[in-house]
Amino acid sequence: MRTLRPRKSGTVPLKNMKILGINGSQRKEGNSYLLLKSALEGARAEDERWIETEILQLRDFEIKPCEAHYSGLYEFKNWGCGKKPYRCILKDDFEKVFQKMIEADGIIIASPLYYPVPAKLVALMERLMAIVYFAKKADKNYVWPLTGKPFGAVATSYEDTTILVLKILKKFGFIARMYLVREAKNKVFSVDAKGGVEKNPESLEEAKRLGSIVARTLIKREERTKKKGDERHDKTR
Ligand SMILES: Cc1cc2nc3c(=O)[nH]c(=O)nc-3n(C[C@H](O)[C@H](O)[C@H](O)COP(=O)(O)O)c2cc1C
Repeated sequence: MRTLRPRKSGTVPLKNMKILGINGSQRKEGNSYLLLKSALEGARAEDERWIETEILQLRDFEIKPCEAHYSGLYEFKNWGCGKKPYRCILKDDFEKVFQKMIEADGIIIASPLYYPVPAKLVALMERLMAIVYFAKKADKNYVWPLTGKPFGAVATSYEDTTILVLKILKKFGFIARMYLVREAKNKVFSVDAKGGVEKNPESLEEAKRLGSIVARTLIKREERTKKKGDERHDKTR
């Protein structure tokens, strides 16, 4: 397994950056949680000074399925979805989770294979998809708040492959306009823990690597932004 070389720079003061882990499982501290925890450990290990992490467990939140309140959209009657920018008209905890995603600098989602993923995670994805689509209809100049956030996915199952889960999560990351992190050229990096983490302990190390790639993407971006800012400042002096 390829190990990541330590970052060359490390002295440039950066802003604090948060990576949010979302556990889609209904089991609170099961396999998906363990993978996610390991990914976030890997992220913090990149640079504890600037990287902080948080885990949300979807089972703690009430998230109803999308009710498709876009009926009458084209006549602009009874239309709810995204009418207020980035708002869903259903009243539950969706807004809290979405707000956390907006505030985060990077996002990693973990999910077990159910049929195909847990219903609450499906509900979260449905609602976000509806908002991103209809926010654009409401305002052509809208700026989608998740654009470009580094995004990674981890999945676990009992015996079947997790390919389907990872496909769903990656497609979600793509539609939600996040930046799917890559380990090598043209390869979206995600972690498959078939058999759960007990039968697949190396998946914890893989998850750690994914977390460090997400953190490194953020740190590099921030260093670039800072460098550009310093150059501009030097030119104007
Ligand atoms: C409703 C449901 C459906 C599941 N379907 C499958 C399945 O089709 N194939 C499989 O290998 N595992 C299946 N599993 C097992 C979970 O994917 C597996 O135990 C996973 O590691 C659980 O992750 P967690 O501990 O994060 O909840 C299913 C579990 C549940 C609760």
